[in-house]
Amino acid sequence: MRKCTVRAGSNIAFIKYWGVADPALNLPLSNSISMTLADAYTVTTVAWEERPAQARGEAPDEIVLDGVRLEGEAAQRIVAHLDRLRALAQVDWRARVVSQNNFPAAAGIASSASGFAALTVAGCRALGLELSPTRLSALARRGSGSACRSIFGGFVEWEQGHDDTTSVARPLFPAEHWDLHDVVAVVSRAAKAVSSAGGHQVAATSPFNAARIASLPPLLATVRDAIAARDISRLGPAIEQDALAMHGVMMTSHPSLLYWQPGTVEVLHAVRRWRQEEGLAVYFTIDAGPNVHLICEQDQVGPVVQRLQQLASVQQILVSGPGPGPVELDEH
Ligand code: ADP
Ligand code: DP6
Repeated sequence: MRKCTVRAGSNIAFIKYWGVADPALNLPLSNSISMTLADAYTVTTVAWEERPAQARGEAPDEIVLDGVRLEGEAAQRIVAHLDRLRALAQVDWRARVVSQNNFPAAAGIASSASGFAALTVAGCRALGLELSPTRLSALARRGSGSACRSIFGGFVEWEQGHDDTTSVARPLFPAEHWDLHDVVAVVSRAAKAVSSAGGHQVAATSPFNAARIASLPPLLATVRDAIAARDISRLGPAIEQDALAMHGVMMTSHPSLLYWQPGTVEVLHAVRRWRQEEGLAVYFTIDAGPNVHLICEQDQVGPVVQRLQQLASVQQILVSGPGPGPVELDEH
């Protein structure tokens, strides 16, 4: 048996990936920029059993996610990714996968990003495939678009590209560059009704989608420059603008996707109040889910957490700074 365990951080997008040009390859409609998180992560072990194809057919891959054995349809997305790895290594071995997220899955905290980054790196290493980070990024993207960014630590840009080899992430700055924090206000732990994958496919039905995509080049430049200069007062308004634009696209697509809950709106109003009335340098972004990511520098984390604790709809608070790319863990 060949086995490898990898921990990969989730990432929070400052400029979002929303909508696909090619759903089979997960080619996006624009570049996106994110920060890989240190303390919201997935640990995945992939063990390959060197069995002949016929035996594998009788005993399909075994997948345990967050302590639950996945069967049939639920396992299919991970099995499809294992098939990509088997094809690369030209083997037909059975896999046993055990994966654990340290945060709620499918609730807008990018479990698919850390999950598919960890699966890709652990699966390839266990097969003895020595792929460059760029090739790992392309491969992770096939499993989940945002996973291509979690192959790198720190501040990362996913280049839209035009095919399977050019649509890859690249590091902008390492984690040590800026001690920026993501304080996640969890207002619901429920899995969302429409997955990101389903949402990407309907983005183009919104009349605002094309306008959002056209508006991104200057916004991407602002975010790149603000990160380079460690300037939260430039970064903040840009990330809020794109989060609101993306949710505008979601709400006006067919079907209409409304990921927000009442608690989402409570947190958004509170952030604006804290900024305007109390001078806190804190800004929000929201992925495809109800939970709000508050972005601030390290010295604002305490005051932000303290205020969030007073809000009725906040059930849990997760805090993370920038983290490394995927790390191989010792076998236990
Ligand atoms: P999220 O907001 O959590 O990223 P998505 O809809 O993008 O939500 O992704 C959720 C899906 O990602 C899950 O339904 C599951 O298929 C997949 N996923 C979650 N955790 C993992 C994991 N650790 N390994 C592999 N896939 C995972
Ligand atoms: C709103 O990467 O989760 O979080 O490729 O279908 O797995 P799939 O989608 P996913 O979409 C992420 C959407 C987002 C924005 C972002 O992370 O860029």
